[in-house]
Amino acid sequence: MTDDYALTGAQKEGLYKAIFSRRDVRSHFIPKSIPNDVLARILNAAHHAPSVGFSQPWNFILIRDSETRRKVKESFLREQGRSTALLDGDKDRQKKYSSLKLEGIMESDVNVCVTYDPTRFGPFVLGRTSIEETGVYSVACAVQNLWLAARAEGVGVGWVSILANSDLENILGMPTHAKPIAYLCLGYVAEFSDKPDLERLGWLPRMALSEVICYEKWGELEPPGSWSEFQSGVKAQDEVRREDNI
Ligand SMILES: Cc1cc2nc3c(=O)[nH]c(=O)nc-3n(C[C@H](O)[C@H](O)[C@H](O)COP(=O)(O)O)c2cc1C
Repeated sequence: MTDDYALTGAQKEGLYKAIFSRRDVRSHFIPKSIPNDVLARILNAAHHAPSVGFSQPWNFILIRDSETRRKVKESFLREQGRSTALLDGDKDRQKKYSSLKLEGIMESDVNVCVTYDPTRFGPFVLGRTSIEETGVYSVACAVQNLWLAARAEGVGVGWVSILANSDLENILGMPTHAKPIAYLCLGYVAEFSDKPDLERLGWLPRMALSEVICYEKWGELEPPGSWSEFQSGVKAQDEVRREDNI
């Protein structure tokens, strides 16, 4: 009998490497197709995500057809125009926003729309009775599994959310009870940046871990005595640029 279920050193290293070197990829896709077995493994990792009441409320719509993608790209361009207009009062930020590459719909090898079906297995979902959003949270867990598995396989993923869901529903022929949650672009890449594009380009900085941990109550950033040793460890993590170690 063992009480140590930790992964081995190499396994842990692999997991953390996938976590810290995963990137949202929009600009570095290369024209190389993802082999069927690789794509199937990535989707199987997504399918093994946790889900409220084991409801597995996701579907993965795989899209290679260029006409379908062109329609999705048009939706992106319309929505991008709308969001650019929201920055009319801040010309500097608007200019920067307009210069960002925020999707790789046409250049990636395959697009995957991850959807949510709240009716799966019937109306009673164990655990979803109080917090309805747990259904959507489950789909987000599947997306993260997909993202990490793709990184492990050397495949880049970009999440495009500057889209109208109504467009996606029409373009993809979805029934009214199902909702698109994530529109993802997958493909091999020329590089995985060491930092998020939005950090590199000065849009926003990564916050320190110590800025987002509260002790016992919302907003309590200074720990009571019992937590102080732990906080030293957190501060040490703040010093470690994980991206520098990958
Ligand atoms: C729900 C969600 C929606 C996102 N939508 C977009 C998007 O429309 N366009 C884009 O370029 N990146 C999008 N991203 C990617 C984020 O910009 C990116 O995750 C963040 O800047 C951190 O970078 P990293 O993923 O490389 O660590 C989205 C990410 C999430 C989780």
